[in-house]
Amino acid sequence: MQNFLDIHQTDAADLRDIIDNAATMKANRQGRPRGAADDEQPLKDHMVALIFEKPSTRTRVSFDVGVRQMGGQTMVLSGTDMQLGHGETIADTARVLSRYVDLIMIRTFEEATLLEMAEYATVPVINGLTNRTHPCQIMADIMTFEEHSGPIKGKKVVWSGDGNNVFASFAHAAKSFDFELVFTGPPTLDPEAALDGLYTTERDPNKAVEGADLVVTDTWVSMHDPQSARERRHNQLRGYQVNDGLMSKAKPDALFMHCLPAHRDDEVTSAVMDGPNSVIFDEAENRLHAQKSIMRWCLGK
Ligand code: CP
Ligand code: NVA
Repeated sequence: MQNFLDIHQTDAADLRDIIDNAATMKANRQGRPRGAADDEQPLKDHMVALIFEKPSTRTRVSFDVGVRQMGGQTMVLSGTDMQLGHGETIADTARVLSRYVDLIMIRTFEEATLLEMAEYATVPVINGLTNRTHPCQIMADIMTFEEHSGPIKGKKVVWSGDGNNVFASFAHAAKSFDFELVFTGPPTLDPEAALDGLYTTERDPNKAVEGADLVVTDTWVSMHDPQSARERRHNQLRGYQVNDGLMSKAKPDALFMHCLPAHRDDEVTSAVMDGPNSVIFDEAENRLHAQKSIMRWCLGK
């Protein structure tokens, strides 16, 4: 049994296996209805708890569908409906859930909550996003890049915008998968210092994207950011919008990715989102395949 807490806490060879297995599992069910079972049923007789302390569309649906395709069952729990939201400790919640379920996925605010859940649970725990990281997303992103453009090793990835939780997992992945990562954004929204050394910074977005194989952005206001910061963030980030002008400076076949949900015509224009270089919906689909592979790895199946 193994937790999937963060990219940099997972062995690089295991990360590679997870991506390769995800691609095989995706190929094996090509053309089937979404609700059809996989030939292999590694989660048969398994119950999975999916805990959400923040909103979600992709993570919720892709985990739920993925477990069912592999023969398991799910229960989706909202943090506010659980005693967790009314003073029961995370440690006690983890001990109790471990008596009922075989795997726990949690989306939460503080990283400390995830780590406490993992410490006290006796079943594997998966990080479905915290204020600091979003590792499942980046596994799907790497799978998507490689489907379209081949091995990511040695390629140039440029992140334009806020140095947030999704960027942090990209930074961890840059080391594990050996690609170049450039951050372009205002100094006020730099990534956290713990990520220093994993990426380089270029304040001019047009210079940053020169020669890029992949351009990525994310919302300017994350779920954990106060809404009161919205206007200030928009003013700081406006110059980092991904639009046709910026994409034209990257390689002609550069991909565009966004974890979604996107705010059309804020961090990225609709023209880029819906344009020929955008792979955002393949990226969303691959959450399903990547997470199925992560769950199998966690359970040793
Ligand atoms: N990208 C992502 O995690 O989306 P949701 O917030 O909809 O789960
Ligand atoms: N950075 C965003 C990602 C959402 C999937 C957030 O944390 O809200």
